[in-house]
Amino acid sequence: MTTRIAILASGAGTNARALLDASSRGELGDARVVALLADKAGCGALAVADRAGVEALFVDPGPHAGRAAYSDALVAALQERDVDLVCLSGFMRILSPGFITAFEGRILNIHPALLPAFPGAHAVRDALAWGVKVAGTTVHFADEAVDHGPIVAQESVPVLPGDDEETLHKRIKAVEHRLYPEAVRLVVSGHTRVRGRRVEVTSPVGAR
Ligand code: GAR
Repeated sequence: MTTRIAILASGAGTNARALLDASSRGELGDARVVALLADKAGCGALAVADRAGVEALFVDPGPHAGRAAYSDALVAALQERDVDLVCLSGFMRILSPGFITAFEGRILNIHPALLPAFPGAHAVRDALAWGVKVAGTTVHFADEAVDHGPIVAQESVPVLPGDDEETLHKRIKAVEHRLYPEAVRLVVSGHTRVRGRRVEVTSPVGAR
């Protein structure tokens, strides 16, 4: 049965585009992106979904007082659409424990750092400020703690002399656009098994 994927995003949507492109090319295994939900009206990600012919839904946080109420609204929208897998794709909002429970083991996140280093909203800036020589990106299952759940895939990129937040993030995103669809395909096609903190991958990332 086809896995129905929804993307949650807040920003430019370049990772959303990578997932949508992979979806339309049939590269996500037996899975299709069926909707993109955003918490920011007019954000790039909504336009990206629209252009791809996929439902683009702005879920306004305004009427929902607090994290739990807004997360409940998202859960309702996802359940109405029979979503099986949620891909957080630059979604800059913390989800409630109720959301995590509703989609337990079925939420992936991409984060622009080599976790557990530099969790949070300013990962690239924090990594540069720390003076690291290697940065990167992580795809992981989401759990109740921020940027914390079991890791599916990671890849490093070098930090080059003269990098600023923009140039380093651009280099990281170029990797993310390949790694996220690959990780989604692995999960969807049953090539991952979560054992505690570890994700056993039974097919190498990148293999077709
Ligand atoms: C991506 O680099 C993603 O890893 C990051 O936001 C960017 C979204 O860019 N996510 C986080 O920082 C989550 N903590 P995009 O809108 O162009 O895909």
